[in-house]
Amino acid sequence: MTAYVADLLSDTLTRPTRAMRDAMASAEVGDDVFGEDPTVRALEQRVAGLLGHEDGLFTPTGSLANQLGMRLHVAPGQEVVADQNAHVVRAELGAAAAFSGITSRTWPSVRGRLEPSGPMSLVTTGVGPYQVETALVVVENTHNFGGGTVQPLEAIRDVRAATSAVGVAMHLDGARLWNAHVASGVSLADYGREFDTVSVCLSKGLGAPVGSVLVGSAARMAEARVWRKRYGAGMRQVGILAAAGLHALDHHLERLADDHARAARFAAACAEAAPGSVVASTVETNIVVLDVGAAGWTAAAFVAALLEHGVRTYAVGPAAVRLVWHLDVDDAGTEAAVDAATAVLRAVPPTP
Ligand SMILES: Cc1ncc(COP(=O)(O)O)c(C=O)c1O
Repeated sequence: MTAYVADLLSDTLTRPTRAMRDAMASAEVGDDVFGEDPTVRALEQRVAGLLGHEDGLFTPTGSLANQLGMRLHVAPGQEVVADQNAHVVRAELGAAAAFSGITSRTWPSVRGRLEPSGPMSLVTTGVGPYQVETALVVVENTHNFGGGTVQPLEAIRDVRAATSAVGVAMHLDGARLWNAHVASGVSLADYGREFDTVSVCLSKGLGAPVGSVLVGSAARMAEARVWRKRYGAGMRQVGILAAAGLHALDHHLERLADDHARAARFAAACAEAAPGSVVASTVETNIVVLDVGAAGWTAAAFVAALLEHGVRTYAVGPAAVRLVWHLDVDDAGTEAAVDAATAVLRAVPPTP
């Protein structure tokens, strides 16, 4: 394994801490397909409670939690509407279409920020057998490809009011809802209550090796449990993984503020070194997207140049580079990334 001075590729890279491994090793387990794993049930109920919902369902991935959420609300041939850069439409490899016969349309946005006019310009109901009926709006909070954008609660509430009036459901892709909660101070339940189903990931900023939870009504979770098994994701003594999630909730939630502060420190330094590469005030959580084109770089050349300094990043567009802070990047790693990125931004880019 390559050792980087700062590995900012993704917040999915974290390795379980010693204490998390100890919690996993001593977890009480049972066969979860028979509903007999007490640690899984404890996690499902805890997360459901935090999000203001009746019940939860443990899944191996966030993608599966999202796919189950969509499947519950949308019949084959109906549509889901989402932001143009939402994970469910950009990064789940067409699963909603491939598995559930779901079509989709997307609204444009700036940095993924939700404006009620986005979804509401698309939502179409009562069009009989002539046009596709919208069954679901998906909101992503924080918005990954948008750069960790926190969705405004007022905008969510406006969309909720408008969609409820026409019988359209709402699903929250809350892979990083923890970050939104810590950054905004809005409670998890205040976010969660505005949605029919919510998926959250334990394997990103929270630092668990695996796992997501879908929450909703008890009836919907019973249905999702059937579909999870049908998709081949009924797991057995999986309390060993749920224990990591419970440990993460106890120990790694509040510390997300440290990741946010480090990302902000990095963004401020880059904004000073190369004005236009990032607007520091738009960095709200643990993700920074740099426009390296503002300093004359291509994303590929910039990523390669940072790698020479031992800093790993991710090209997300021809001139856009994403950096994500997490449990395994400390102040020293952040300062190394600041030094490397500001030096590269100030340097003359290679001629193509
Ligand atoms: C916003 C968002 N939703 C869902 C997922 C899917 O999570 P997983 O990789 O566990 O399937 C991700 C993964 O990065 C994500 O960023």
